[in-house]
Amino acid sequence: MNILLDFLREQKVSETLIRELEHFRNRYPVNDGQRLATPSYLYYGKDIWEQALTALLCGENLLLAGSKATGKNVLAENLATAFGRPRYNISFHINMDATYMIGTDTFQNGQVTFRPGPVYQCATDGGFCILDEINMARNEALAVLHSVLDFRRMIDVPGYQQISLHEATRFIATMNYGYAGTRELNEALASRFVIIQTPEISEENLNNLLVRSFPKLQKKYREQFVALFIDINKKCENGELTMKALDLRGLLDALKLMEAGLAPRTALDMGITNKTFDSCEQEVIRDIIAGRISGKLTAATLFGA
Ligand SMILES: Nc1ncnc2c1ncn2[C@@H]1O[C@H](COP(=O)(O)OP(=O)(O)OP(=O)(O)O)[C@@H](O)[C@H]1O
Ligand SMILES: [Mg+2]
Repeated sequence: MNILLDFLREQKVSETLIRELEHFRNRYPVNDGQRLATPSYLYYGKDIWEQALTALLCGENLLLAGSKATGKNVLAENLATAFGRPRYNISFHINMDATYMIGTDTFQNGQVTFRPGPVYQCATDGGFCILDEINMARNEALAVLHSVLDFRRMIDVPGYQQISLHEATRFIATMNYGYAGTRELNEALASRFVIIQTPEISEENLNNLLVRSFPKLQKKYREQFVALFIDINKKCENGELTMKALDLRGLLDALKLMEAGLAPRTALDMGITNKTFDSCEQEVIRDIIAGRISGKLTAATLFGA
């Protein structure tokens, strides 16, 4: 957890916010038995950090909306850790229903008992609940969250007492938008969140992310991979490529394959080029790659072995 605070300072996040975060953690200490997960990746982006911290400190629920691989889940997990709260993750899908989220009656040892769902557990535990891909669920199924997410901050289970949310409980939803197959979120639900649109990572932050993730990657090649991502981004912005080609996850995967010894061009095909199935688009991407990464380059040279 303290690694994360150091990281926030490194990112030059406002000291006032960091202090308030520490107050929050002191006010809501972790109970015995509450598991705090350490995040596997760190989110780079000072402005987004400051917006998200401010919103959550004010007691708001946060919706992170953006294109694929813009770090929405990484940020949501980092936030739970930064606030020092246990994390609950719910992945939404078309068949999600209220009983799964809130809980349901079960028959156990000859008695009817209530088996709480993750929203209920998170609400009583003071957890941070990540509602992942919230727009994938049917709107009717989500109506049950209305009273949880607005000023009432309570869960109403038919046949049981209403319960109020623990003060430290927060909800962070994520949603994808901007490409085929993504769904809109209904207005009543969107109105219950403050919304941050997650941008593509900046050039400087991508460089820092690569330094941390691939410490052995030689500087001059690291710069070429950063430039490659920026080149692809520009072509997407001016409409020469579709967003399929822009995939930071794909670039990181490709670098992992190179680190394991695969030829750079092959790894880039697997991580980036082949994500589009249009052969013309593949040509454009290969041209951009050829301008940055020589076909003769080996994985061993990249990683300075
Ligand atoms: N700003 C960022 N800082 C750190 N890592 C980032 C950032 N943006 C993207 N990434 C990296 O991109 C990858 C994908 O991140 P994540 O799964 O959080 O994205 P997402 O926005 O939830 O994507 P999707 O919409 O496809 O679910 C991770 O490896 C993550 O480290
Ligand atoms: Mg995600």
